[in-house]
Amino acid sequence: MGLVTGAALADFGLNVHCIDSDAQKIETLSSGTVPFYETGLEELVNCNLRNGRLTFSTDLEAAVRASRTVFIAVGTPDLPDGTPDLSQVDAVVAALAECMDDYKVVVTKSTVPVGTARRIQRLLREKQGRPVRFDVVSNPEFLREGSAVEDFMRPNRVVIGADSEKAVAIVKEIYRPLTLNETPFVITSLETAELIKYACNAFLATRVSFINEMANLCENVGADVHHVARAMGLDDRIGPRFLQPGPGFGGSCFPKDLVALARTGRQLDAPQRLAETVIEINQRQRDRVFSRIEGELGGLKRKKIGILGLAFKPNTDDIRGAPAIHICRRLLEAGAVIQAYDPAAMPNTRRVLNDRNLVLCPDAYAAADGVDALWIATEWKEFRNIDLPQIKSAMQAPVLFDSRNVFDPEKVRALGFRYFGTGRPGPLP
Ligand code: UGA
Repeated sequence: MGLVTGAALADFGLNVHCIDSDAQKIETLSSGTVPFYETGLEELVNCNLRNGRLTFSTDLEAAVRASRTVFIAVGTPDLPDGTPDLSQVDAVVAALAECMDDYKVVVTKSTVPVGTARRIQRLLREKQGRPVRFDVVSNPEFLREGSAVEDFMRPNRVVIGADSEKAVAIVKEIYRPLTLNETPFVITSLETAELIKYACNAFLATRVSFINEMANLCENVGADVHHVARAMGLDDRIGPRFLQPGPGFGGSCFPKDLVALARTGRQLDAPQRLAETVIEINQRQRDRVFSRIEGELGGLKRKKIGILGLAFKPNTDDIRGAPAIHICRRLLEAGAVIQAYDPAAMPNTRRVLNDRNLVLCPDAYAAADGVDALWIATEWKEFRNIDLPQIKSAMQAPVLFDSRNVFDPEKVRALGFRYFGTGRPGPLP
């Protein structure tokens, strides 16, 4: 998110210094290489490196002195108890306080619990060597992995939380190019801006869990969840997005943000029961996929299972919180042998699942070779075009679990597969 913000703001015509304490990362980025998979990002970085508006360095002090606005985009991972770890935010704020030489606007882009902006104000005041004026702004980011550049360049809205008009004007000016396509700005308080981010992610996650539960019901009554979702989505009040059923949501945001929101609610005596339930529903959705594979194969010991897709969603190599990884781990623990293929996420998978019973394959056909069942875990576009007869002839038994409903059940069954989609009528007996 930090890199997308930096590169996109440079593209807006600003001079941007991207700072990280990891010298290796800075060296890689300075040479124009983006060390992860994100559509369009490397081109954007290189274009702005060439025109000189984007630089990478480990020298925080020089960058702070050269800038009026500082965006904080460090990670806020989960601690074991589910609270967001703010140590990277605190470290950056302490370093900032020491080198602030003139008025600065300090903007939090990272998703941080309500009250963090106030805490940053306090920390900056306490840690400053000599008093320098500053304002803190909360400017949450809503981009999605896989379409991050596009989302940043064409957001539905920009949220600016602040208690200083001057700071609002400065941040609005930064985003001025977006006014050309009439992007709405929501100007509000620090706390409200911080909460908006959690509200959005929790609401979207709730929609996904809603449709997943509906899908489970559809399976039991022989209904089709896609028709339910389509008809729901055609209602203007509901809209069509985030109603795609699957094996449960993953990623580094929804699961973490729900836990953080639920915790904040408990601490502040405003329980977020819906968020708490969504966490549970999502876990159950994963369990359901596992149990279905286990049940259908009559146990998992020494069963050979192919998995297509490991990333938490298509167009990314990110496997954080991915249902595929969670379920793959459980399948391995239960004694299965896995042959998996993902167009981008295999190196990351190998880092977290170094099991000799997990074989990473060069393509979908190799992953299907000799397996007792094939599971589509992530809906990469290329899976839509695989040659199903060839897949079937490679498999030991033609059992297909299609968690993302990539295939047309009738066509796949006509080819002789025993096919299980999500929320669609089950196979004929
Ligand atoms: C999410 C939000 O969509 C962004 O707006 C937000 O900025 C970001 O979190 C963040 O807080 O940084 P992201 O995690 O990249 O973005 O991915 P999404 O596209 O939202 O998907 C999240 C998960 O939900 C994926 O596992 C996806 O497969 C699943 N999903 C999504 C469904 O199962 N069904 C759907 O209809 C939509």
